[in-house]
Amino acid sequence: MNTKTTVISEEELNKQFAFCDKISAYWHDKNITPVAYVETYGCQQNEAESEKLRGYLMQSGYAIGNEAEGADVVIMNTCAIREHAEQRVFGNLGALTHTKRRHQGQKVFLCGCMAGETKVSDRIKKSYPHVDGVFSTHHLWQFPEILWNVLSKGKRQFYIEDEPGSIAEGIPQARDNTLKSWVSIMYGCNNFCTYCIVPYVRGRERSRKKEDILAECRALLEAGSKEITLLGQNVNSYGKDLYDDFDFADLLAAIAEIPGEFLIRFMTSHPRDAGKKLFDTMAASPKIAKQLHLPFQSGSSRVLKAMNRHYDREKYLELVTYAKQVMPELVLTSDVIVGFPGETEEEFEQTISLIETVHYDSLFTFIFSPRPGTPAANMEDPTPKEEKNRRFDRLCAVQNAISEQIHANYIGRTFRCLIDGMDKDLLTARTEGGRLVRLEGDKNLIGTFADVTITGSTTWSLTGKLK
Ligand code: SAH
Ligand code: SF4
Ligand code: F3S
Repeated sequence: MNTKTTVISEEELNKQFAFCDKISAYWHDKNITPVAYVETYGCQQNEAESEKLRGYLMQSGYAIGNEAEGADVVIMNTCAIREHAEQRVFGNLGALTHTKRRHQGQKVFLCGCMAGETKVSDRIKKSYPHVDGVFSTHHLWQFPEILWNVLSKGKRQFYIEDEPGSIAEGIPQARDNTLKSWVSIMYGCNNFCTYCIVPYVRGRERSRKKEDILAECRALLEAGSKEITLLGQNVNSYGKDLYDDFDFADLLAAIAEIPGEFLIRFMTSHPRDAGKKLFDTMAASPKIAKQLHLPFQSGSSRVLKAMNRHYDREKYLELVTYAKQVMPELVLTSDVIVGFPGETEEEFEQTISLIETVHYDSLFTFIFSPRPGTPAANMEDPTPKEEKNRRFDRLCAVQNAISEQIHANYIGRTFRCLIDGMDKDLLTARTEGGRLVRLEGDKNLIGTFADVTITGSTTWSLTGKLK
């Protein structure tokens, strides 16, 4: 695997913009405004990358539609994290044979994390002839060239070589939301947790330059953004490849100094690299949301070692204790995997006890899914599926009771919230901790911060009223 970071030059990017112009002219000559549809699976990183694909498409003359039916270009931006995620994509990809039959000339592309797996591109080459192009995340910056090749040559395109991890600044991004913006601060992952496919499909960790990130944040805030979420697989190791004396906490502090009323969020933090400096920086700035997504994966130190997580139960609990001490209002969420190969009943109970000790606001819960090519896929896994399902249900019940209780305790308290939209007749808002609140109010309030008193709660959401 090639591990060098390549910065895509302005000249190379300009070549891509020239392809956008050619595509625009192609459609202009036909007197057609083409429509493109991008479907996103997986995490926020993929959401952000779909915005870049839409940016390129708009620059190439496409209108953005919201369904595959009738679209001239359909892109599936995929996730490889679990087998189930992949099966869904293959199912939906199969259905595109019909939309393609009904709309002559529809071009279908598959990109994202699945496109980084050889077994996937091989299967598409062989069994999905209606797919016109496949490109891995390393090649996203070349999308205009890929699309142009398909349109002009009528030949299938596969851009799937394992390139050095690249960073391309300046790809236009058609953002879905003007109030809340994703900003990728780094790409790839170096951690090689034994169950995880991400390092194989996204390459090594590489950080964007701080100047580029700050300039992007400033521009977003000037354009009216009120919330910036910094993205990376492991944001705590931001900058390690670039700087000796500037880390993720420094980046947060620098963004918080930009004038204006806004909130900064980030994900994901790896407990291995999170520490006091980060929590102190969060505590010191009112612009950094008191929200932390800190995946623990398992409550058993033996399992954590087998997962190659580089922390144990005690270190994790110490971190959380310190974070809560300096940020009493902290909203804490996490990821957990049930049924890792060889997880015993006792080890599972340690996971339950960690959940009960920490008292998470909510959890993303997963049953272990073997990913071919990762070390955990070859580990002894004697626990039957039914037993794993039983553990999973028990864990969800424990967490739901905790979430419900935490939410009930919100009643009567007042939180500063960003009013971010409407759902049917009610305004939607998010507390600083990221909890969803529904309330009555005028839609002119969308885009403002307001004090909201909580009046009701369920496991998943809150209702409130303007103070
Ligand atoms: N980089 C982030 C998480 C990325 S993937 C981090 O390290 O925290 C999101 C979550 O998916 C992981 O935290 C993990 O809980 C889950 N996950 C990853 N691979 C998995 C697998 N093979 N089976 C089940 N869950 C998995
Ligand atoms: Fe996967 Fe681990 Fe990297 Fe997260 S830190 S993306 S779980 S390898
Ligand atoms: Fe999925 Fe890739 Fe994100 S595998 S979770 S889309 S990094």
